[in-house]
Amino acid sequence: MLFRKKIILAVTGSIAAYKSAPLTRLLVKAGAEVRVILTNSAKEFITPLTLSTLSKNPVHSSFTLGEQGEWVNHVELGLWADALLVAPSSANTLSYCANGLANNLLAAVYLSARCPVFFAPAMDLDMWKHPSTQRNIAALRNYGNYILEPAAGELASGLVGEGRMMEPEEIVDRLESFFNLNKQLKGKKVLITAGPTREPIDPVRYISNHSSGKMGYALAEELAERGAEVVLVSGPVELKLFHPTIRVISVSTAEEMRNACVEVFPSCHAAILAAAVADFRPQAASEEKLKKKALGEHLAITKTKDILKELSQMVSNGQVLGGFALETENGRQNAEEKLHTKNLDFIVLNEFNSENQVFGSDFNTIQILSKTKGWMQLGAQTKTEAARDIAELLNDLLKHDA
Ligand code: C5P
Repeated sequence: MLFRKKIILAVTGSIAAYKSAPLTRLLVKAGAEVRVILTNSAKEFITPLTLSTLSKNPVHSSFTLGEQGEWVNHVELGLWADALLVAPSSANTLSYCANGLANNLLAAVYLSARCPVFFAPAMDLDMWKHPSTQRNIAALRNYGNYILEPAAGELASGLVGEGRMMEPEEIVDRLESFFNLNKQLKGKKVLITAGPTREPIDPVRYISNHSSGKMGYALAEELAERGAEVVLVSGPVELKLFHPTIRVISVSTAEEMRNACVEVFPSCHAAILAAAVADFRPQAASEEKLKKKALGEHLAITKTKDILKELSQMVSNGQVLGGFALETENGRQNAEEKLHTKNLDFIVLNEFNSENQVFGSDFNTIQILSKTKGWMQLGAQTKTEAARDIAELLNDLLKHDA
């Protein structure tokens, strides 16, 4: 599965460095070409000889190698790799990578690498939880790097908690699925909408809703990770995107969202509208702040345009169209009705109740109704996992149409 993939395995100073031996072995067995970088402190835990034998390549530790002091070109090494895997990644390593230092070979390779970078942190639970480490993790994610989250369990210190490096088998699984998924939607362009819209009453007030945009953003990230060209039309939200390839069009009102979607949709293979578009807007926004007593008479409201319905009338060449339904009662029945009236390929049903708060939450229990496959009931899961299920369905539908 990692056949001919060029992987730099960077091992840093953590007791979990002993697992770099089985990790190297598994990577080589999966078909990867492995070059190991061992930091000076990692050498206290595992010898270069072990890893050069297992990787079948000399191990790099400093900018010079060998008796003649041959130069290790960090730029070349960085450009050679299809992936840079830092495992285990100590708190110190996370810190210098997050902050742009270049004071050792690994730091310089990291700055030079153009490939995807994976960090598998390993440290004691308090070091992991420290705001400084968490800030570094957030910064690395922001640069588009991937964090292979540490697990909870017994740590070398005897303490129990989060901080154990992900097991080598799982790290290899993650890399394999990354390279696979990365290709799955290559060449496909997908439009996603996310977040709420704001319909101005006057320069100060607006009509909106509680949508956080998390589901739509998770979907955009997942599809981009699978190689799709993603255009995200986003209402006002407080979210960051990690994937560098996503094109964002920021809008505020339903009308602006509609205009962006109508323009982008014809060049797309699919659209999934996850935005919670305001259903109503004030008939006319006042240019001046309205007096309280005048609010009532000025609050004549009118319906916004149904973007999803409009796109469904534009569908051509087997474009796939998906929507969301948020229901507080008769969920399935209402979703079925929407699938038909909006002429969709699938609809994702969020049932809003005391167990599934939907808005702002990182979790979501969803069901999906597909025109060709019927109902799929999915359990409670994170929005990232829900996005994975939706991406799988989209991939099936696109293949089916191909
Ligand atoms: O009819 P309802 O608002 O429940 O439909 C929800 C679906 O329709 C969502 O996918 C939402 O993004 C989309 N929608 C839209 N334009 C609107 C209202 C909803 O695209 N004005």
